[in-house]
Amino acid sequence: MTGETERRRGFTTRAIHAAHYQGPGKGQPIAFPIFQTASFHFTSAEEQEAVSSGVEPGFSYSRVSNPTTDALHRTIADLEGAEDAFSFASGIGAIHAAVAAVVGSGEHVVCTRQVYGGTYNLLTRTLPRMGVVHTFADLTDLDAVARAITPETKLLWAETITNPTTDVPDLRALAELAHAHGALLAVDSTFTSPYLARPLELGVDLVVHSATKYIGGHGDLLGGIVAGSRGLMRRVRVLAVDTGGCAAPLEAWLMLRGLKTLALRMERHCANAAGLAAFLTGQPAVERVLYPGLAEHPQHGLAERQYAGFGGMLSFDVRGGRAGAFGVIDRLRMALRGASLGDADTLVSHPASISQRFLAPAERAAAGVTEGMIRVSVGLEDLPDIREDFRHALESA
Ligand SMILES: Cc1ncc(COP(=O)(O)O)c(C=O)c1O
Repeated sequence: MTGETERRRGFTTRAIHAAHYQGPGKGQPIAFPIFQTASFHFTSAEEQEAVSSGVEPGFSYSRVSNPTTDALHRTIADLEGAEDAFSFASGIGAIHAAVAAVVGSGEHVVCTRQVYGGTYNLLTRTLPRMGVVHTFADLTDLDAVARAITPETKLLWAETITNPTTDVPDLRALAELAHAHGALLAVDSTFTSPYLARPLELGVDLVVHSATKYIGGHGDLLGGIVAGSRGLMRRVRVLAVDTGGCAAPLEAWLMLRGLKTLALRMERHCANAAGLAAFLTGQPAVERVLYPGLAEHPQHGLAERQYAGFGGMLSFDVRGGRAGAFGVIDRLRMALRGASLGDADTLVSHPASISQRFLAPAERAAAGVTEGMIRVSVGLEDLPDIREDFRHALESA
């Protein structure tokens, strides 16, 4: 082997080349085919039994495995440094599977206080009915996390960058703390994507994505991913097969396609977000800008060490509370008023009335979500156009 072939290929090369289809005959497809089939047929009952029982490799039923979703799983596992990965019909489907695979009745989860609203609902509305209890804690405060851990704690749930306040937890320290108490650490890496963060390399046990966001990248699919060790993923796969939340082949194909341009898009999202954060910081109507790339961000140094970039998400507070924020949002002429993130289009939302609306006002305040806060998913447009849109919207604030 030459030195060239021994060298580990770069992220984008692997994202592009991790899964090529090898079919019969000469001439292979460059794009991986979409195996749009529910099940697979066999030449004999014996062969069917061998594949269905896992004795022989192959495919039997697409809820269990399918060549297109398999290609996605191989690619994600490669990019995350995981032994295995599995895809789901949505990010929240992936979150549910990751939690339910490792926590059962009578057991306890410690979760970041600034957690995504859907995860909050899962933990507070649905999982308590299955006997799973939780405590919210500020995961940037390790003493507070240690105090929240009980003998029943089986899982710590973190986000690489929290939504919408952009807090950054120390993943290595949290993993050590979790393991010292016999618990696991799972991390929602949606805001960072596999390009900016590799949580498993820091000791995290399971990494989860809403692929609806940066992995898909164009706002045209719903999907979720869980990745981790073979042992933990066996539990996630069993849960997925038993509950049926798997991604469909077309969605898996869209995720696979999104991965090929992820690095390029993330570089642009990061550059545009840094440019917008710098612009907003100087605006008289803006009281506070939350972006890990700003030197004054409380975890700026940690984010710099832990991630390959600061991401495309920022939040800022405007003067005048909710009315002030609504006024700015309504005056935007290019950015779209939309709840999702990670799209090519710049999207804005008002967390207090959208993603964090389920929280009581006191809980929102404790999570640092103000009435004047606007969250921006900074898109891929030309930065001068994004800046100009916000300059105009802030002018009469
Ligand atoms: C950080 C985070 N995780 C998970 C999800 C859930 O993803 P999905 O909408 O694909 O179910 C979202 C959705 O907004 C999110 O922002």
